Amino acid sequence: MDDALDLALNGYAFLPDRRRARGGGPVPLRLAGLRATALCGPDAVRFFYDEAHVRRSGALPEPLRGTLFGKDSVHSLDGAHHRRRKHLFVSLLTGDGVGDLVRHVTAAWDDAAAGWDGPTVLIDEAARVVTRGVCAWTGVPDGPGLARDLTSLVDGFATAGPRHWRARRARGRLERRFAALVERAREHPGGTTAVDTMAWHREADGRLLPPRVAAVELLNVIRPTVAICWFVAFAAHALTLRPELRPRLADEAFATAFTHEVRRFYPFAPFVGGRAVADLEFGGVAIPRGSMVLLDLWGQNHDATLWPEPFAFRPERFVGRPVGATELIPQGGGDPRTGHRCPGEQITVAVLTALVRRLAALDYDLPPQDLGISLRRIPARPADGVVVVPRRAGAVTSSRSAASGRS
Ligand code: HEM
Repeated sequence: MDDALDLALNGYAFLPDRRRARGGGPVPLRLAGLRATALCGPDAVRFFYDEAHVRRSGALPEPLRGTLFGKDSVHSLDGAHHRRRKHLFVSLLTGDGVGDLVRHVTAAWDDAAAGWDGPTVLIDEAARVVTRGVCAWTGVPDGPGLARDLTSLVDGFATAGPRHWRARRARGRLERRFAALVERAREHPGGTTAVDTMAWHREADGRLLPPRVAAVELLNVIRPTVAICWFVAFAAHALTLRPELRPRLADEAFATAFTHEVRRFYPFAPFVGGRAVADLEFGGVAIPRGSMVLLDLWGQNHDATLWPEPFAFRPERFVGRPVGATELIPQGGGDPRTGHRCPGEQITVAVLTALVRRLAALDYDLPPQDLGISLRRIPARPADGVVVVPRRAGAVTSSRSAASGRS
């Protein structure tokens, strides 16, 4: 029997439920007609990110390439070809540039927050703010509808419904728009923006990327940065669970621990996958060559053997605990420079920490709304996106307030 329906019905809980039913260990599955094995745990991370075990070419389903990642992106490359393209991302997304991005995003937040009046949907507002910041940082002109198109790419990758078709249409528009930027950058050599870097990146054979592929990779910088808006909404949700933490977020080290706990606790990327390079075995289970191998990200981030009381939101667990290569894996595991682990993790932590501190300092009420987060929806989000009503100095508190954002 195929397990695709079970996945669609149970979302993030699908793999952990199956693992529990088997008493732990690898879970053999059949997904959309393909044999698959789902793994979890630090040993599984090491196994999965070994190129002698798992390849990415030919592993990404078309609906994912047609929405979230784009075709011919770094996600689908292996070996030397992958490392060369990956170096482009790692050099762009780590180091001094991170602080510049944070400055652009926080300036956009401060500017926008000054004008928030009445009910404000935090996830949408954070998407606009981050879009403005990352556009300024990369040299991409911001414009009407850009934030909405970028979030549509993320929102529509794991559904067959209208959200998926919205994502496909958005990808078409965005790739055309970004390919035109790449072509323009090629008419003016010598620029130093991310657009220029993508436009002038050369493959191992010395050729420039086709403009569409350069556009895909430029989108692979901008789209996931804007996706940090999901974590901003989750952070606001976390503050409803632990309002007493709010004053402690003024401390940057504690705010960073809070950010890691947001990334661990809340559901975003459910799992990653590739194909077995050879006939393999893991944990006593045979993995045939060519079959799918999945790494359960959300399951591992809620594994009680790694995280005591995994369903309690406890930033304290990250105080003084460095984030290593194989335990906390909301953005993949292993070494981002050589494997497929997300190269944007430093950016995610830096931007989110800065925005979490601003959120904690914002005086707001939460009007009646649905703050529920369904584990069946991928990607999950607080149902109403977290509506906040900023309090203005001297203003009378909204009579509609159900809960105060302040402790
Ligand atoms: C919203 C927060 C983010 C989440 C949850 C996230 C999650 C992920 C995950 C799960 C992967 C796949 C890892 C794998 O295949 O093993 C990935 C890869 C990637 N991410 Fe992120 N990411 C985030 C932010 C970012 C940011 C801010 C950037 C860039 C600015 C970025 C750029 C990329 C790229 C280029 C890859 C492909 C890496 C490769 O295949 O070698 N991500 N991310």
